[in-house]
Amino acid sequence: QVAAASGHTVVLVDQSDEILKKSTKGIEESLKRVIKKKFADKPEAGAEFVKKTLKNLTTSTDAASVVHSTDLVIEAIVENLEVKNKLFKTLDKFAPEHTIFASNTSSLQITKMANATTRQDRFGGLHFFNPVPMMKLVEVIKTPMTSQKTFESLVDFSKAVGKSPVSCKDTPGFIVNRLLVPYMMEAVRLFERGDASKEDIDVAMKLGAGYPMGPFELLDYVGLDTSKYIIDGWHSLEPNNPLFAPSPLLNKLVEEKKLGKKTGEGFYKYK
Ligand code: 3HC
Repeated sequence: QVAAASGHTVVLVDQSDEILKKSTKGIEESLKRVIKKKFADKPEAGAEFVKKTLKNLTTSTDAASVVHSTDLVIEAIVENLEVKNKLFKTLDKFAPEHTIFASNTSSLQITKMANATTRQDRFGGLHFFNPVPMMKLVEVIKTPMTSQKTFESLVDFSKAVGKSPVSCKDTPGFIVNRLLVPYMMEAVRLFERGDASKEDIDVAMKLGAGYPMGPFELLDYVGLDTSKYIIDGWHSLEPNNPLFAPSPLLNKLVEEKKLGKKTGEGFYKYK
């Protein structure tokens, strides 16, 4: 959405036409929210902006057959290294020489993905934040193999889509998630111990620390499965780090498919 809205030609790829239809609808609704503010007193210009953005966007269920025409691939699939590497290996065969590959991973090592391809110097991390149309930050990750030219292209692209880039080494969680995920897990542990209700913890962090959402609202918003993938991955890297300890409550909710807002229930219920 943000790439198409800033004039880039985008091919959105996913596993089925049904998912792509849902994603396109989500983009249309989000664009409506964007123009409400951006073109408040110019509805015609707003409608034109939506039309132009959607014109820049096509969809496909076959990444290998569309990658030949891309300068940049941004992968944002499931947080599973094997699955990601399988995709990158395939795309590496069909993408042009100059094409840069980037992963939007929240917590996996970019170096391990780069090593699945033959373009380690044209590989980096581009980590966006939910909701991407609103959040201004992008973390740009340079591995020891990422070339300076690739890094600069990723920084330029981030600016071209209207974001503010920061850079970080290829370390677990980069900057934001390294701080945010342990904080959210500590909130779950506080609740699990019975020290406070989740509602009070959320109110406390909003009114006492100025956060726009409390930790439980944010966990539901991000998706409990995503948070579980992140913490499980870090726990296997550093089993003795108490900040990375898995939570029985989070595990139970994910097992029950209560993944947050997207499934209608997580820590809270949504209509
Ligand atoms: N598309 C377009 N616009 C959107 C939007 C979307 N998806 N979601 C919200 N907005 C707009 C609304 O239209 C509204 O615009 P307005 O000011 O013109 O009315 C504005 O954002 C505010 O929305 P709301 O009034 O509905 O609600 P809030 O004031 O609570 O703001 C929020 C919503 C921007 C999501 C805010 O609550 C927030 O900043 N929350 C924290 C988000 C956060 O921490 N994200 C990081 C998560 S971590 C992550 O993503 C990393 C990953 O790896 C796990």
